[in-house]
Amino acid sequence: MSRKILVTAALPYANGHIHIGHLVEYIQTDIWVRFQKLRGHRCVFVCADDTHGTAIMIRARREGRSEEAVIADMRAAHMRDFAGFQIQFDNYGSTNSPDNRAACHEIWAAIRAAGLVKTRSVEQLFDPVAGTFLADRFVRGTCPKCTAADQPGDNCSVCGAAYTPADLRDPRSILSNAVPELRSADHLFIELEQLRPFLEDWSQNGGHLQSEVARYLKGNFLAEPLRDWDVSRPAPYFGFEIPDHPGNYWYVWFDAPIGYIASTREWCRQHGEQALDWWGRDSAAEIHHFIGKDITYFHTLFWPGMLQTAGLNLPKKVHVHGFLTVDGEKMSKSKGTFLMASTWLRHLPPTALRYYYATKLGPSLDDIDLNVEEFIARVNTDLVNKVVNLASRSAGFLAGQTLSDVYPDDGGLFAEAAARGDTIAGFYEDCNYNAATREIMALADKANKYVDEQQPWVIRKDPTRAAELRDVCSVTLNLFRQIVVYLSPVLPGLAQQTVELLNQPITSWDETSRPLTGTRVSPFQHLMKRLEMKQVMDMVEESRQENAAEQSAAPASPAAENAAPAGPAFHPADRWQDPGTALQNEPLAAECTIDDFTKVDLRVARVLEANHVEGANKLLQLTLSLGGGEVRNVFAGIKAAYKPEDLVGRLVICVANLKPRQMKFGLSQGMICASGAGGTEVFLLSPDTGAVPGHRVH
Ligand code: 2FM
Ligand code: ZN
Repeated sequence: MSRKILVTAALPYANGHIHIGHLVEYIQTDIWVRFQKLRGHRCVFVCADDTHGTAIMIRARREGRSEEAVIADMRAAHMRDFAGFQIQFDNYGSTNSPDNRAACHEIWAAIRAAGLVKTRSVEQLFDPVAGTFLADRFVRGTCPKCTAADQPGDNCSVCGAAYTPADLRDPRSILSNAVPELRSADHLFIELEQLRPFLEDWSQNGGHLQSEVARYLKGNFLAEPLRDWDVSRPAPYFGFEIPDHPGNYWYVWFDAPIGYIASTREWCRQHGEQALDWWGRDSAAEIHHFIGKDITYFHTLFWPGMLQTAGLNLPKKVHVHGFLTVDGEKMSKSKGTFLMASTWLRHLPPTALRYYYATKLGPSLDDIDLNVEEFIARVNTDLVNKVVNLASRSAGFLAGQTLSDVYPDDGGLFAEAAARGDTIAGFYEDCNYNAATREIMALADKANKYVDEQQPWVIRKDPTRAAELRDVCSVTLNLFRQIVVYLSPVLPGLAQQTVELLNQPITSWDETSRPLTGTRVSPFQHLMKRLEMKQVMDMVEESRQENAAEQSAAPASPAAENAAPAGPAFHPADRWQDPGTALQNEPLAAECTIDDFTKVDLRVARVLEANHVEGANKLLQLTLSLGGGEVRNVFAGIKAAYKPEDLVGRLVICVANLKPRQMKFGLSQGMICASGAGGTEVFLLSPDTGAVPGHRVH
């Protein structure tokens, strides 16, 4: 029975170009969509640019243009890149569209009516020079854990530590280099916890999620009260103003997924359909979202929660994939492996990447690795040597003639391959393209064995065997075409070339069980060239140079305010899921009174000097200033965690009235405050900007 399927891929941010990491998802999704269409299902693939947020606003300011101008240019570039990789959307919209604004208003009204919204004051860093609140990635400073300099506000690229921007030492706004201030503003929050019964049921039952994703949600998010979701941002912000909270805007992640609905509305308008026939709760349409694992949280908790509250159709499945590595490492700008789609297209065919990704993609969340040598070998071996070779070894002998009028005896090869159709289709359906391509290549091996045995190039030399030659080539071209039909979701370009070669359209999966007879064979044109390592090397070198030029020309720019952190985190929201281990290791002390607390005189102090202590493995000797010439000599057990030179000049918190203690190395006149388990796990406390030595800590 024909299904009605709406497919989405994550909406790419409008402040950056498409790179080969993005393409994992768009290629994966495009293959799935093409497969469904080939199977005869009604399948509509919508996407859009994700246009809102601080990152776009800042980029527009930097470039002296309007946000709309930035968005328009990037949209054109995105669409060029997608077309270059044969990614075929039925509609490509924008989150900055009237349809999206209208859909946001409707969904917001439903969320308000359900009593899920509450207001809370939020403190956020503010750039007093640029006049804007700063998202995490707009703040850089020294990592509070490993002291690596110039780290982003959410996640250290050196030690992987996750923190908030306010934890950074010496924070600076990347917009103006000003020291950010902490300011408060009223934000609107959605109380997700109210949706718990629904979210537990939807995420754990019904097969909407891969089992590892369902387990991840259960163990990480659903195991404790769901945090309220902050969905508003104060001006200035590029987005839609919230109708009942003037001067405030929906956070980009609120309106981004609604963009799926808006893009569907646009498509429906062009095709005389109703969006509610797809998104309505009673619709028979299946909604399938394809996303990367970094945005799991948004699509498996927030988004279903929003849809449920608005009474809309829920996703039938959220397909989550892993990240891309290149030769086992994160894509790197300095190494040239952070490859843009457009750079790829200048050097290598899109088909090669589509096929290689297909051979790597399975139904799990495992990261996939683009190994350059394997890539070249895989494409050359499978596509050039096995698949295209079938046509190269037969089509020329029948050029200008027709295929045999009756399909010849092939020893059961075509029928055998047709019988594999359901298995191959099952693999595609499950996004197990790796298994699908392996299965198809096994068919190509058998077809090549047939050609090797029949030797049409030998038959051809004997004019009395012309009929035999026609039959052998007819079989070979049919086996070739059958393989091409199976591969056509992955290789639409090769499918089109085959249509032109054999003058028959490829419109249905069923063509894999119907051999062609009597159709004309066009003159043979080369279908695919072998890949050479030099092409890859040239591409990587060009990419390296482009990146180097870009970095020396442009100030640091965050990928996006809500981009996934680098490093080991599964999801950016992980950083809010503070583990309970510190508390377990050291349970809270017995209650004390305020009087007990005030007996301890904590003061802000500046480190004037820091030195190693001869003969002491763990200690550093610090000279602290409390201001006004008041100094303290303190021995602190922080040697494994801090270098003396990194401490000089910084502010710390000192227990200033601690009874002096004579130590082997000298008199210690206080203590500095730190947290952590000891050794390298020591984190000094620092006051915020504005504090001066001598301030008492209350
Ligand atoms: O992570 C991203 O690239 C986001 N722009 C994806 C948005 S997907 C959807 F929710 F809009
Ligand atoms: Zn660090």
